[in-house]
Amino acid sequence: MTRQAWMFERDGELGQLFGHYLDSAATAQMLCAANDAMTHLDRGMRANVRRGGHRLGERTDELYEQARGTVARFLGTSAEQVVFTAGATAGLNMLAGSLCQCFGEGDEIVVTELEHHSNFVPWQQAALRTGAALKVWPVTSEGELNMLLLEQMITPRTRVVSVTQVSNVTGLVSDLTSIARRVRDVGALLVVDAAQAVPHGLMAEQADFLVFSGHKAFGPTGIGVLAARNGGLEGLQPVSFGGGMVAAVEQSGSTWVEMPWCLEPGTPPFSQALGLAAALDWLDRERAALEGVSRLTRLALDGLLSMPGVRVIGPHNRERMGIVSFTVDGVHPHDVAQVLDERGVWVRSGQMCAQPLMRALGLNAVVRASFAPYNTLADVAALLAGVDSSLALRG
Ligand SMILES: Cc1ncc(COP(=O)(O)O)c(C=O)c1O
Repeated sequence: MTRQAWMFERDGELGQLFGHYLDSAATAQMLCAANDAMTHLDRGMRANVRRGGHRLGERTDELYEQARGTVARFLGTSAEQVVFTAGATAGLNMLAGSLCQCFGEGDEIVVTELEHHSNFVPWQQAALRTGAALKVWPVTSEGELNMLLLEQMITPRTRVVSVTQVSNVTGLVSDLTSIARRVRDVGALLVVDAAQAVPHGLMAEQADFLVFSGHKAFGPTGIGVLAARNGGLEGLQPVSFGGGMVAAVEQSGSTWVEMPWCLEPGTPPFSQALGLAAALDWLDRERAALEGVSRLTRLALDGLLSMPGVRVIGPHNRERMGIVSFTVDGVHPHDVAQVLDERGVWVRSGQMCAQPLMRALGLNAVVRASFAPYNTLADVAALLAGVDSSLALRG
């Protein structure tokens, strides 16, 4: 497989891709604008941030804080409420580690069967550590959150509810408005995993806290965001420690600088912050590109539904954010993915880091195709032709 044979050039900022890349929900291709923003700094014009001392450092500080401002504007919050993390997983661990510190027996943490492991295991472990109960909100047989259980799941004992805005398996959007209303009524906090939402221009307005990753939102790897609304960051405590976040260090104890910097110990991913800000700027400007994604997703869904033996996970009549997962009767998802790979169609197969959901739906694995603004009708056609040819593997 030579890159030459697979590469093709696309117009616009998304640059060069090769093959039919349908795995953007795992990691999306990066915008040239994001790369340019990082390169601008990394080519001999960078210094560490918040260390002071010289003009290059001050300039890097300025650019880093500008990037924080851009992220804040995109999310509709203030810059003081934006923390740069290593990714969605790091943000969720920080939230679970910090928010649950004072929980104990009688308190309840609510997650759902839809969650990616990154929004399940940190809360599970916090519950085990603190003695709080972990309540897992079931999905319906179709694979969407069972909203009839809203009041049963979120009760006056609930301290925090952590839910995905967009499922990484079905692409369906959670009803955050109803969940947030109930969360407010019982005086709990709402954490939203927006990892699959931000790339589609959704940003969990209802959340007290949200997280996402740069590499799924057309930005660089190694960076993510934890953001709060309504001053929520003030309720967090640092759970990781090191340089950059301390005000004074004595042998007997230390004090911290103010929010959000006290939640960014060590050297933060400052070049990546510039890249991420550039990607979010692009997403903000290019809303029309997202309409193309939903058209392609619908076409893929309809095409798959028309094939005998293909089962699409989740209800078929609802809008999906760029994700279609499916199985083919009698063919293992890995074999379907291999047939597709041989045709240059790159999808994900397996449990999608969502074992609780797989178990709830009685599945061992699925194939997932996911779409982004650089995909075209040719990618959908290649997917459908590949799945069609995988039907021949049925025993
Ligand atoms: C819904 C969801 N949450 C969290 C994550 C974890 O993201 P990361 O691995 O970038 O931390 C993913 C990654 O696939 C995801 O799809």
